[in-house]
Amino acid sequence: MRMISRGSLGEVYSAVDSSGRSLAIKRLRPILIYDREEREKLSREAKILRHLSGHYFPQWIGGDTECEEPYLVMEWLEGQPISTLFPSAQKQNFDQAFLKFADSFVDALKILQNIPSPEPGPVGLIHADINPKNILVGTDGGVRIFDFSHARWVREGEQSLGGTRGYMGLDQMAHGKLHLGTDLFAMGLILAEILQGSPIISGKNLFSIFLQLKELDPHQVAQQVTHKQSYQEILHYLLDLSPLGVRERLNEVENRIKDLVEK
Ligand SMILES: Nc1ncnc2c1ncn2[C@@H]1O[C@H](COP(=O)(O)OP(=O)(O)O)[C@@H](O)[C@H]1O
Ligand SMILES: [Mg+2]
Repeated sequence: MRMISRGSLGEVYSAVDSSGRSLAIKRLRPILIYDREEREKLSREAKILRHLSGHYFPQWIGGDTECEEPYLVMEWLEGQPISTLFPSAQKQNFDQAFLKFADSFVDALKILQNIPSPEPGPVGLIHADINPKNILVGTDGGVRIFDFSHARWVREGEQSLGGTRGYMGLDQMAHGKLHLGTDLFAMGLILAEILQGSPIISGKNLFSIFLQLKELDPHQVAQQVTHKQSYQEILHYLLDLSPLGVRERLNEVENRIKDLVEK
């Protein structure tokens, strides 16, 4: 077993089971095992992982979130950080790789938006913490999304919860509001970051991040990161310059990508 990461909440280890399958084991940092809120986050993540299927998300394998030292076991997601997609002089197939990644990202969000919640109510899951540390580019060039410790069912309504500064919309950062558009906005910032080769909102100072977000103009971001009108339109739909609803916006993004791939 090898430690891969020590985040604020958990420690993640990679391991291999007796059949040779690669696993990721996530446990609370020992210092947090008596922290009720943190335990709750891990058991929430375990419950949510059970509802996820498809190759964009780690498959649930097992675990125990009620025992003294709670942990969960999931499928290991192979991949590279999104910075491997950043444009560079050596990269000839940037557009192809970018569109492949963006297309799979739309597909992944659509899957989340269509997962029925375990209790009656509106359909859909909000990840609520999509940021470059929680996604990878899989070996097939498509997105991999993990860390569902902040995820919420749509029916749970708005919740004041953490996300990651620089990838949250104003409504999430200022008012703790979550909705299906929360993940679209984060996806928009990530695609813009890939096009630009650096984060759109930067810095560590909370006030500065808040100001950058408050003044964020999707038109300006889109023009700053790309000259391609079709890419700009994709960013407009994601960063919300459209009167359409969230599901329709995602469909528009998907249509734009399909048109570009077919060209
Ligand atoms: N299923 C997985 N497959 C591969 N790497 C993973 C997996 N789960 C987590 N990781 C790695 O561990 C890191 C931390 O995991 P994460 O679930 O984001 O923990 P935290 O809640 O502490 O942020 C991730 O950035 C990623 O590099
Ligand atoms: Mg994380």
